[in-house]
Amino acid sequence: MSRPTHVRIVEVGPRDGLQNEKQLVSTDTKLELIGRLGQAGLQAIEATAFVSPRWVPQMADSAELMARLDRLPWIAYPVLTPNMKGFEAALAAGAAEVAVFAAASESFSHKNINCSIAESLDRFRPVVEAADAAGINVRGYVSCVLGCPYEGEIAPRAVADVAAALLEMGCFEVSLGDTIGVGTPDNTRRMLDVVARQVPLAALAGHFHDTYGMAIANIVASLDAGVTVFDASVGGLGGCPYAAGASGNVATEDVAYLLAGLGIETGIDLEALVDAAAWISDRLGRNPASKVARALLARRATAQPEEHRCKP
Ligand code: HMG
Ligand code: MG
Repeated sequence: MSRPTHVRIVEVGPRDGLQNEKQLVSTDTKLELIGRLGQAGLQAIEATAFVSPRWVPQMADSAELMARLDRLPWIAYPVLTPNMKGFEAALAAGAAEVAVFAAASESFSHKNINCSIAESLDRFRPVVEAADAAGINVRGYVSCVLGCPYEGEIAPRAVADVAAALLEMGCFEVSLGDTIGVGTPDNTRRMLDVVARQVPLAALAGHFHDTYGMAIANIVASLDAGVTVFDASVGGLGGCPYAAGASGNVATEDVAYLLAGLGIETGIDLEALVDAAAWISDRLGRNPASKVARALLARRATAQPEEHRCKP
């Protein structure tokens, strides 16, 4: 299959990236991060999660964040909503896109949202119906598509069944999460082959964590399989509170560099994105995790003239 000319990037740093931070990040910092990501050309920025503050304290300021968010009309700011309570709070806070999140692993479903896969789908149906009535788009997630921290290998059929259920209930897109970043290109491709028998590839997104450094390779495999939407997190922030050992999402700047090198349009300004990565990493007291950010920042520090800089 030939590669696409355009890819949609869903920036998940403010949610997936920050949700695992031990130190509480201020609402001001989150808002500035979201603003900087918008300036860098991201058109979908997952802003926060309307989940239990007991389960994920970092997301406890979701209503305040949405109330203070300076929204640009061309940017979507989806938020996570695990149930009707979360959806109603998101709606009251003015969310215009929400996401429900299921798993392909029973154990992970219980650890993450305290219910079975079937129960989670039952909880999501009224959310999707209420969202539809309110004119709000719902994205779906499936976690553990290439492995589970509790169950190990996950059958691609299980992924396909949950993805199909989410699309059937009305999600416009389903993001397939390699939650613990254990996938490699071959099993990514095998999983996508099986899922694509039940759901259209055009309705799928790839959500790769980079625990073993395989996320970029898995994105290339997914692109070649026909996936054209990828989630990523600025600076490679993140992890998962219910997936020990999972490191951050693939860094948005690594994905932007890859796609620019492949001649695929994303609308992202790589230099501005690296500024955002450096800024939030500095706020968190660390260096950006991504190689692209480190390389571009080092290049700036040595102040090479523009004509000597290699282009992606
Ligand atoms: P529960 O304890 O089973 O819920 O949690 P419950 O219905 O029994 O209610 C218990 C209490 O929680 C009650 O409060 C509810 O009001 C409250 P109390 O009466 O005891 O004071 N509650 C809520 N509060 C705020 N917002 C809500 C909400 N719902 C109930 N929406 C629940 C079930 C789903 C709420 C909980 O398990 C939870 O919040 N889990 C969130 C887990 C989470 O955020 N995980 C990270 C995101 S998923 C992810 O990272 C994976 C992804 O990136 C893809 C990938 O990488 O694979 C998307
Ligand atoms: Mg994730």
